[in-house]
Order: sequence, then structure tokens, then C-alpha cells
Amino acid sequence: MPVPLIERYRHRLSLEPGDPVVTLNEGSTPLVEAPVISERVGARVLLKLEGANPTGSFKDRGMTVAVSRALGAGAAAVICASTGNTAASAAAYAARAGLRGVVIVPEGKIAIGKLAQALMHGARVIALRGNFDQALEIVRALSDAHPVELVNSVNPYRIEGQKTAAFEVVEELGEPPDALAIPVGNAGNVTAWFRGFGEIGAAPLLYGFQAEGAAPLVRGAPVANPETVASAIRIGNPARWEEAMAAFTTSRGRIEAVSDEQILAAYHLLASREGVFCEPASAAAVAGILAHGLPAPEGEPTPQTVVCVLTGHGLKDPDTALGKAPAVIGCDAELAAVERLVFD
Ligand code: F0G
Repeated sequence: MPVPLIERYRHRLSLEPGDPVVTLNEGSTPLVEAPVISERVGARVLLKLEGANPTGSFKDRGMTVAVSRALGAGAAAVICASTGNTAASAAAYAARAGLRGVVIVPEGKIAIGKLAQALMHGARVIALRGNFDQALEIVRALSDAHPVELVNSVNPYRIEGQKTAAFEVVEELGEPPDALAIPVGNAGNVTAWFRGFGEIGAAPLLYGFQAEGAAPLVRGAPVANPETVASAIRIGNPARWEEAMAAFTTSRGRIEAVSDEQILAAYHLLASREGVFCEPASAAAVAGILAHGLPAPEGEPTPQTVVCVLTGHGLKDPDTALGKAPAVIGCDAELAAVERLVFD
């Protein structure tokens, strides 16, 4: 059974000594070889399966710390804006902690599995007729004015928890990877990985990938109406903009865009050839290295070991999967008919 990450890394987290531990045994996610993708990019590629966290995404790493601190500080409620995964995670940890959970999501724009999670965990789900960036602005104002804890990644404890993924990768490999590929939305996660690596003296190249229709960091300006099939990263004005850009610059990595077509091709390749089902946003990490290669700073060798962060589970978004997959084959309940379909 995985040890809760607060227990594993408490000495590296900034929790108060008396804080309760609200946990679902998150972290300790698998790091698996990706032979097909390795072959295609000419380097050893490993996949960090963050979809194996309790609510199916990396958000749980940050949420265990943020909700533990919120409870320790006497909060009665937590709130977030979300493209879906933060909402699912906040709702689960709030339920666990006995806190009220409120999540604000862009109406009609979040994957159905995430919505089901938030509702089942008992959060109040508000569907905003607007986008994620507007939702974030509203929850920031609400949490400034009311006694409710904001658990978006602008909350410092979220970043604290999420940085532990970098510790795990280095522990597991026995050394830092040469590069890390990661999808970028609100830019909290790349900020967290960068901090985690920095705290243990590791400095891989960071390759960040945004969807072409939602690529403010690549364009250098906010995007008013972000659009992409990867709904988790449909974000036009990332909250941790400067920190993320500093991470790419300091690590001498890159921030690049990938098209929806490239994202869906990588999504399909991961599922059909590597046996790994992630959500579309996560596939942006793999799409990115397939499309842009593994650029190294001038005069330095090409990375030999690359970790792709697969941020969320494919089951989160069955609609996109079924839209992409071949049709099921109907059959009468007769041996000969089944036999024909199986062996033809
Ligand atoms: N991948 C997935 C599956 C996500 O859900 C998110 C963000 C990201 C990547 C990008 O991470 O925002 O730290 O740069 N999801 C947030 C949410 C915005 O509300 O669930 P980021």
C-alpha cells in the first residue's frame, strides 16, 4: 500500500506540526517504460502515470497538502475553479476532511467522468457560463472576501505537494532524467516539478507543451477564447505564468505548442501500443516530444532519458475516447456468428 506522500516527505513540506493528515494514499505512482515511443524519439522514454492517483490525476498530490493545511487552519469550506480534475480532487479531499466543497467549472466544457466525481463526492458544482480563466478570477475574489480556502494551484500548499512527483522520479531512476515533458495549463504543475527537482539538486531540461488553440505561453500573450480537445488545459491566462517561464528558461528547456490532431494521435498511440490510457491533455507531453524532438542547448548532447508526465487517467473522458475509437461489433448470441466475427 502506498505511504501517504505527507508521511513520505513531511520534512520537505511546509505543513505546520499540528496539522491533521487528510490522505487517500496518493503518490507513489508507477513509472513505466515506453518502448514504442522510445524507438520513435531515439531515447529512453518513461511514463509517470499520475492517473494512478486516488482520484485519477496528479492534483491529489497537491490536494492532500492543501486540504490538510486548510483543516489545520480551521477552514470550514474549500473552493476552486477547475477544468475538471482539480474539482474532482478538491471534492474528494473535502469529503474526506468533512469540509464543504464548492467547485466552479466552465459549463459544458469538462469531461464527464470529472463531473461525476465532483458530484458524487458531494461538492456543490457551479457551471459557469464562461471559461476557466473567468472562473478563477471569480473564486479568487470570493476567497478574498469570505472565509473559504482557495485550493487552486495559486495555493502554495498545492505546489508543495505536487513537487513530490520529482522526488519520486529521481528516487526510482536512481538519478535525474535528462529531460521532463509535461502538459501546461494553469502552469502550477511545471512550477511544482521545477521546485521539486531544484530542492534535490536535479536540473533536467523541462519541455512544456500547450495545445495550439490554448497556448498563451508560446504566443507570449493571453488567449481570450482558448479552444482545444484537451479540455483540462483549455486555459488562456495561466496563473503561474512568470514562474513557469522562469522554469523553462532556467532549465534551458522549451515551451511549445501541439495541435489537437497531434494530441489525439499520441493519445491513441499510448493506448493502442503502450497499453496506457491517459486523458487527451496528458497525451500532449508525448505529442510534444514526437513533434518537436528532444532539443538540447547548443553544444550539449541530446537527452537520453526522458520522463513524460501523464497527468490524468483516460477514464476521466470517455466521450473523447469513444469519439476516437472504432465501433463495437454487435452479434447474435450464436456460436457460429460469434466465431465468424472473432476469426474473420
Ligand atoms: N493535465 C491535466 C490532466 C490537468 O487536469 C491539468 C490542469 C494539466 C495537465 C495542467 O496542469 O494547470 O498545473 O499547468 N488542470 C486544472 C484543473 C486546471 O482545473 O483540473 P497545470
